[in-house]
Amino acid sequence: MSPPPRNATATAWLESPLAREREAGPMQRQLHERLKRAILDGGLAPGSRLPGSRALAEALSISRNTVTAAFEHLAAEGYVQPDRQGTRVTELAPAKVMRAARSGAAPATARRLARIQPGAPRAEMDAALRPGMPALSHFPAAAWRRAIDRAIRGASPATLGYGDPLGEPPLRAAIARHLAIARGVRCEPHQVVIAEGAQEAIALCVRLLSNPGDTGWVEDPGYRGAKAAMHAGDMRIVPMRVDAEGLCTSERDWHRHPPRLVYATPSHQYPAGAVLSIARRLALIAQARRHGAWIIEDDYDSEFRHTGEPIGAMQGLVDDAPVLYVGTFSKTMFPSLRLGFVVLPAPLMAAVQKPLKEMLRGGHRHEQLAMADFIESGQFSRHLGRMRRLYRERQQALRLALARHFKVPHEIDGGHCGLHLTVRLPPSFDDRRIAADALRHRLAPTALSSFAMRPRPSDNGLVLGYGNTSAELFEPLVKRLSQLARAAERS
Ligand SMILES: Cc1ncc(COP(=O)(O)O)c(C=O)c1O
Repeated sequence: MSPPPRNATATAWLESPLAREREAGPMQRQLHERLKRAILDGGLAPGSRLPGSRALAEALSISRNTVTAAFEHLAAEGYVQPDRQGTRVTELAPAKVMRAARSGAAPATARRLARIQPGAPRAEMDAALRPGMPALSHFPAAAWRRAIDRAIRGASPATLGYGDPLGEPPLRAAIARHLAIARGVRCEPHQVVIAEGAQEAIALCVRLLSNPGDTGWVEDPGYRGAKAAMHAGDMRIVPMRVDAEGLCTSERDWHRHPPRLVYATPSHQYPAGAVLSIARRLALIAQARRHGAWIIEDDYDSEFRHTGEPIGAMQGLVDDAPVLYVGTFSKTMFPSLRLGFVVLPAPLMAAVQKPLKEMLRGGHRHEQLAMADFIESGQFSRHLGRMRRLYRERQQALRLALARHFKVPHEIDGGHCGLHLTVRLPPSFDDRRIAADALRHRLAPTALSSFAMRPRPSDNGLVLGYGNTSAELFEPLVKRLSQLARAAERS
């Protein structure tokens, strides 16, 4: 519908002809829209009267019944009220408030959003070298489609309704069994809560355990999503350094900024790649117990262990560890599945179960049932085995290409696990510029410094994902990256 012409009086606009074309819709609907717009825009002021139905019908050359039907519709919605002298416009929110909302001024949002810093612009999902992306074209789509089919065929119509807010019981049981074997996690199925990926699981931990203003520790450099979740919970974030043994904390830190939550990636520090040493794991658990803190253990890509003996999760290291274990199927299956989970310590689950059931709604029930089937039938383990071999080959090919073609001084970190390597560069190379220039060539390495809240000179480099890039591409891609890096050297 066309807006009121500038400078036209409300009456002149109301009486201007309605459209006669079929596509414009019935007269009654057009008139109703026009009157509603005039009321919301303030052209028809609160308390003023609508034109008489007879006069308006004549002016618009439509039947009086059409006009009265439009008035009745407005009255039913509460925009107008009939009274003895005709039809009066209801006292709604002041018109200028309604106009301000449409004026183009930035809408008022929660102040905490301003603290969430955007990362670098995102490349397309299939851009080469993108960190964290699994091998999408190697996913066994046909087997997954069959599992989904079975889940839909085997489920009663009731499955289309809401499910258990904490997740489908067969999936929670399958996850508990799988984690016990693969990651040494100690839990019962009822402690597992299904979430929309690890990101949602971390946000849930923040909601369950922190109050606004509480302190949260994050690794620095570290996963930006954890910071965003803590900011969204109005937490005070304290960045903690990471070194070759992972997250560094000191007695002084525990006294100066005692945390409510500690976010960590012990199996494979994201993005720098360290494995948190056993001594630090035990010390962290002991300190967290002493200070009443909770550790969020994000085990995002530990299923792909490439070197040495598998290191179990922190959660299972000691009895009743104050650890919330977060996992995801984004790397082991595919990111758009949006399935992850958090394992809550049993006493915590007992304390939060009732509010959790009010807060959550479940959903994605067929996908959850198919995922349970995938795990229980052994297809998940077979897929993991295949992917582990593929990622190992890809990592080796990337290391070889870097050794041959990356003509810039560098050191490689990480690679024990997962889908990425971190290449540290001397501070004279501008990592953000390299990453921005690479994007123009459809390469999506991420600048290491962009993960740090307080970047140090050593937090300079490139995080290179090898999960979704074919091994034969690494040589030409690394040559290109090397050229871009040399061009980004600060003089
Ligand atoms: C360290 C880390 N944790 C969590 C996630 C988020 O995973 P999800 O897709 O399950 O939300 C990512 C994603 O890349 C990640 O790198």
